Amino acid sequence: MCGIVAYVGRKVCQPLLIEGLKRLEYRGYDSAGIAVIDNQNKLHIRRAVGRISVLENALSHGEALPKAHIGMAHTRWATHGAPTEANAHPHSDNGGMIALVHNGVIENYVALKQFLSEKGHTFSSQTDTEVLAVLIGDFYAELKAKNHVPHGVSLLQRAVQAALHQVDGTYGIAVICQEEPETLVVARRGSPLIIGVGQHEYIVASDASAIVEHTASVIYLNDNEMAVLHPDSFRTSTIDDTEISPVISQLENKLEAYGLGDYEHYMLKEIFEQPVSIANCLRGRADAKEGRIVLGGLTEHSRELMRARRIILTAQGTAWHAGLLGDYLLEDLAKVVTECTYASEFRYRNPIVEEGTVLIAISQSGETADTLAALREGKEKGALCLGIVNVVGSTIARETGGGIYLHAGPEIGVASTKAFTCQCVVLTMLSLFLGRRRYMGQSQCQEIIAGLCAIPDQMQAVLAQSEQIKEIAGKFCDRENWLFLGRGYHYPVALEGALKLKEISYIHAEGMPAAEMKHGPIALITPEMPVVFVATRGSQYEKVISNIEEVRARGGKVIAVATEGDTQMRRYSDHVIYVPHVMECLQPLLTVVPLQLLAYHAAVARGCNVDKPRNLAKSVTVE
Ligand code: G6P
Repeated sequence: MCGIVAYVGRKVCQPLLIEGLKRLEYRGYDSAGIAVIDNQNKLHIRRAVGRISVLENALSHGEALPKAHIGMAHTRWATHGAPTEANAHPHSDNGGMIALVHNGVIENYVALKQFLSEKGHTFSSQTDTEVLAVLIGDFYAELKAKNHVPHGVSLLQRAVQAALHQVDGTYGIAVICQEEPETLVVARRGSPLIIGVGQHEYIVASDASAIVEHTASVIYLNDNEMAVLHPDSFRTSTIDDTEISPVISQLENKLEAYGLGDYEHYMLKEIFEQPVSIANCLRGRADAKEGRIVLGGLTEHSRELMRARRIILTAQGTAWHAGLLGDYLLEDLAKVVTECTYASEFRYRNPIVEEGTVLIAISQSGETADTLAALREGKEKGALCLGIVNVVGSTIARETGGGIYLHAGPEIGVASTKAFTCQCVVLTMLSLFLGRRRYMGQSQCQEIIAGLCAIPDQMQAVLAQSEQIKEIAGKFCDRENWLFLGRGYHYPVALEGALKLKEISYIHAEGMPAAEMKHGPIALITPEMPVVFVATRGSQYEKVISNIEEVRARGGKVIAVATEGDTQMRRYSDHVIYVPHVMECLQPLLTVVPLQLLAYHAAVARGCNVDKPRNLAKSVTVE
């Protein structure tokens, strides 16, 4: 989704801003831009459609910017208006006095635009953001004319506050003004903003990855808060101007964690990192000897959790697939009534939240707008709200009363992989944590924890087959439709396999319960159709074999993910990928890996940009 990086301090800011934009690239964007105020107090804006390299090229060929110590840059992911140069950020007011970058959506921009047009303002883009820029400029001119702002108070700050009071919708913004060439004003409602605090400098970004290189000390702005930053001072307040004492936190991940290492793509790196990220996720939490799960973030709520009558898991995308698996795990292992619901649906359907309901929001980024809104709806209705989140300090993490961090490290690839397996690990731990306090005996718990702790090593055996999986992907990557089927615990895995393939290779893929195929999708089966079965040994193995037979009878091509040693699977399938045998509830942690690799290799074979798939964003902060 859109990315913001802004700077005020003593350094020449252009290289820092461009570098910051590159670190935000993974979030997804279609155009980019930069604005600076030079030493003569003149505002300069440059924008370009396409990759950041296009903007960089323009800056070094004919459109160079003067040296400046204050500026901001933006990657835009189109919401209002096509990805054109005119629609790219930064935007400015009519007089070219102020410049603005914005993440989020101004919902009442049509009414505001009309109001401003009637006052004689004009617009050169189709964006909601330009309307906000013009509105700020309008208030700035008005306040200046009235000469009402007390000495020492930033006029820009007041203009931003006045404008934000008129706005419905969400924003993370940074604003600069020619007449206040050392002031950077930032504000948020619904779109994340983090302020990096350096020595006589501040680096603001929508994501820690653009800050970590410069400082580990950060302030997370909360909704309806703003900051006025100056090289030698800063002030945080609410949008209504009530001063707030800032809390300075330390970033968890070091710069190296954001690097690509020797891998060709972040997605591949993150697939191969899974044994380590799972080990990190389990560290200090799973004690196989005692059969005990320790989850520090739940300590305060363990009594309420033990008495939970119903658990609602809510999420979007891949995190929703992890939630669906969590639904199976919690019911099976902890015997708690559980449902997994899309956050976007939950928030608007006036859900019933009775006493004893626990709502758990699952999100890699901790910023997904729908998931956040579902969480707030759950809170409003009195549920105990918890989070399963990867990004430390993210909005969902801060707005939940407790929860479990994944500790998967930064996930840069747009297609989520290591966050998914860590979400599944966390949900398994949560099921054991609750199960043990309710119905589960120690020996069963010990056995499952021991199995969980063995997963990182067993996963290496699956990753070692990457080249073989690449060959299979190569054989079918030209097919435009694939099916992914699984039963029980493997139904969410099938959904996730299909999503991975769609996201990065643009092949149409559907995932579903294997039994559902005969209720319609079977009509699609032809010799052209690859069908991926998750067919490991378990309680529904024989039934899956019957489904495979149904596909074979219609000439479909079967790719099976099977249990090591299951030689008969070769008779039923065109291709078999083997995974080590583990207990049924843990199998998804291994069976999803070949599907991630299939998607990855198919996308590479098709020449797709794996880490920056078209139209997708890593973190979706708009509805
Ligand atoms: C976007 C991403 C998906 C992700 C989903 C939820 O759609 O492209 O990969 O699964 O958002 O994101 P979250 O950060 O809440 O897990």
